[in-house]
Amino acid sequence: MNWDSTPTDTAADDGRLVGAAADGEDQAVEAALRPKSLAEFVGQERVREQLDLVLKAARQRGATADHVLLSGAPGLGKTTLSMIIAAEMEAPIRITSGPAIQHAGDLAAILSSLQEGEVLFLDEIHRMSRPAEEMLYMAMEDFRVDVIVGKGPGATAIPLELPPFTLVGATTRAGLLPPPLRDRFGFTAHMEFYAPGELERVIHRSAELLDVTIDASGAAEIAGRSRGTPRIANRLLRRVRDYAQVKADGDVNQDIAAAALKVYEVDGRGLDRLDRAVLEALLKLFGGGPVGLSTLSVAVGEERETVEEVAEPFLVREGLLARTPRGRVATPAAWAHLGLTPPSGGGPGGTGQGDLFGT
Ligand SMILES: Nc1ncnc2c1ncn2[C@@H]1O[C@H](COP(=O)(O)OP(=O)(O)O)[C@@H](O)[C@H]1O
Ligand SMILES: [Mg+2]
Repeated sequence: MNWDSTPTDTAADDGRLVGAAADGEDQAVEAALRPKSLAEFVGQERVREQLDLVLKAARQRGATADHVLLSGAPGLGKTTLSMIIAAEMEAPIRITSGPAIQHAGDLAAILSSLQEGEVLFLDEIHRMSRPAEEMLYMAMEDFRVDVIVGKGPGATAIPLELPPFTLVGATTRAGLLPPPLRDRFGFTAHMEFYAPGELERVIHRSAELLDVTIDASGAAEIAGRSRGTPRIANRLLRRVRDYAQVKADGDVNQDIAAAALKVYEVDGRGLDRLDRAVLEALLKLFGGGPVGLSTLSVAVGEERETVEEVAEPFLVREGLLARTPRGRVATPAAWAHLGLTPPSGGGPGGTGQGDLFGT
């Protein structure tokens, strides 16, 4: 069983307003919202400072930058940073992903067509096939690949020199990378979830690009519900914009943002209907636990995987739910968030709902 709370990059949370994976609409809009330079990239101060040094030093030497590994949850800016790296190096970028590389030959074809100094962005690098991975080791270290010609006993390996290039790998699970691969990156950037103030800056920036008028209180309201994730902040902003346009004069303030997100059932802490259903079952039906995952899932009417992989990681991260060897347990913060009194708290148990959407 998986006890950690690392968000997965499965498609499990597709279609959720607070899901971190990009949906079709996100992909269409994100290109327009992506910061184009390190200076424009909000937050991640340490990563930005370190990356700035790596890139500046390479530029001063007139060399190709070291390989960079970007590790972090979906929606934190890995793809954006890869493009920024290329832009800062004034280099072209080639974009592919681990799942797209089925055979080592696919990778060989890409590598052998790179230009000198080009950035190769390999998204979801932990999902690459084994043979491709081994080819990548040599390419990263020696800028060389062995192209296998022919089949069976007559097959021969023809060494092929590659121009120096910068590999930028992105992964949601740095821990899943084989150490030989991880070690070949000169620099690893660990992306953290964003603080509310940083998300407010992301929201103000996006609002300007989308031509939406938003005040500080409106941005704060959206930021607080965005789960530390710029992609979610941008998506909530778009839904709030719709609401403001249809129900009001188009401008966004705190009341408009709160009312809009109430319609979409995203509460003040960024929990959606599924998250709250899990918490409510845990509190109201099982007195806060411990209760097994299977029992909890049946009570919610969802698959085990949905509860475990879609709802729980954020609840754990928020300190609302704990996974213990005896089962799932609610924390005092969970009772407080749903406006309920814990049975052992001395007060009357289960005193109904608080206003989850209040401000
Ligand atoms: N630091 C940031 N500043 C401003 N916008 C950001 C930042 N990080 C991410 N975004 C925005 O969030 C969206 C998702 O970012 P992306 O780079 O695609 O995330 P990832 O590749 O890690 O899933 C993009 O639209 C991007 O504009
Ligand atoms: Mg990405």
